[in-house]
Amino acid sequence: KKLLLVNGPNLNLLGTRERHIYESTTLPQITSALSDQAQVDSIELKDFQSNHEVVIIERIHLALEAKLSGIIINPGAFTHTSVAIRDALVGVQIPFIEIHSSNVHAREPFRHHSYLSDRAEAVICGLGTNSYVAALD
Ligand code: DQA
Repeated sequence: KKLLLVNGPNLNLLGTRERHIYESTTLPQITSALSDQAQVDSIELKDFQSNHEVVIIERIHLALEAKLSGIIINPGAFTHTSVAIRDALVGVQIPFIEIHSSNVHAREPFRHHSYLSDRAEAVICGLGTNSYVAALD
């Protein structure tokens, strides 16, 4: 099985950004733990981070050619703004799980709405690093 992990804007700052909200684990630490977990389960896990909406959309399109079984995506702030990322995910018809490190529902009202959730297989938020682990599980 091939899966793609997509991390959107500012998630490259995990570990240093707003540590009271996002814990101190860095994105490389998360992705390397996930790669280890994937290997145990014989899953080919590719990971990708970008701060650019268009680059994320084009990477989702490539997932079609790569015959991926699923996408795990933390869209960062694009969760709350991007009809285009929603359309890309729905367009390629690859099942996806939406994840967030923080509990977006316990934060500012503008984080309560997601353009992706109603099309996601599952939505996981508020578990920190374990949001990623649970999605891969
Ligand atoms: C986030 C939550 C978003 O609201 C925020 O813009 C992020 C990170 C999370 O992982 O908790 O950048 O997706």
